[in-house]
Amino acid sequence: KMVSTRHMLLDAQEKRYAVPAFNIHNLETIQVVAETSAKLGSPIILAGTPGTFSYANRDYLQAIVETTAKKYNVPVALHLDHHEEFDAIKESIDLGTKSVMIDASSLPYEENIEKVKKVVAYAHLHDVTVEGELGRLGGREDDLVVDEKDSMYTNPAQAADYVARTGIDSLAVAIGTAHGLYKEEPKLDFDRLAEISEEVSVPLVLHGASGVPGDAVRRAIELGICKVNIATELKIPYSQELRKTLVENPEANDPRIYTKEAKEAMAAVVEEKIRMCNSQNRY
Ligand code: 13P
Ligand code: ZN
Ligand code: NA
Repeated sequence: KMVSTRHMLLDAQEKRYAVPAFNIHNLETIQVVAETSAKLGSPIILAGTPGTFSYANRDYLQAIVETTAKKYNVPVALHLDHHEEFDAIKESIDLGTKSVMIDASSLPYEENIEKVKKVVAYAHLHDVTVEGELGRLGGREDDLVVDEKDSMYTNPAQAADYVARTGIDSLAVAIGTAHGLYKEEPKLDFDRLAEISEEVSVPLVLHGASGVPGDAVRRAIELGICKVNIATELKIPYSQELRKTLVENPEANDPRIYTKEAKEAMAAVVEEKIRMCNSQNRY
């Protein structure tokens, strides 16, 4: 059965590991993440941006993930990533989605709170967990593009107020990561993360984990990160291998066969990230 991310993230918080949230796009990428995670005994968060849902359609993805959830003995959540519209979130909740992010981080503080509260009220009526974001990540995630100069770190004292007033179940923090890859190695503000952890009791979420060295992610997990979002580092090997296979095999015309190497390359990264998060052998 599909679940919310409540128990997953609270278990991770209690035992000090993190659940990786992998961005998926279609049947193939869902299969890769699910098979690899289930084989390793890791809980599964399959994340979709608004762009992914407009590409694949909400009902299609919902159905595929529900089938996935029946197949495996690990908990499976479909999670709405970086959603900004109440109506889109409501549509997915009405279809049975149990985990959502409302990203109102571009709004002024009080407006951010108002928008998130409305989502929390609807979500909690349906046993759905809500992730909010305070501060702003730089970089690009589908249609969401944030200039480096508009990025902003999370303020620890404000984070406590934000969680209390919105009623969110988890909090995405901005501590120096960005969406996409990095030109230079990112410097994470661990002191800030430690302070946020002291102020806030809900599980914390790290976005933009692609390109962040494993040691830095592990340190962040020790300091309270319970969910680690990974998108770009899966897309790149999948696409590179697919391109290579098609270039090397100009006669290839069977999508069931020519995606094999691409899926294997993606699976290797999924496994590496699960081990980085230490979410294996939990179920
Ligand atoms: P990356 O593309 O840097 O992995 O970021 C993923 C993310 O934060 C999805 O919400
Ligand atoms: Zn993100
Ligand atoms: Na990144």
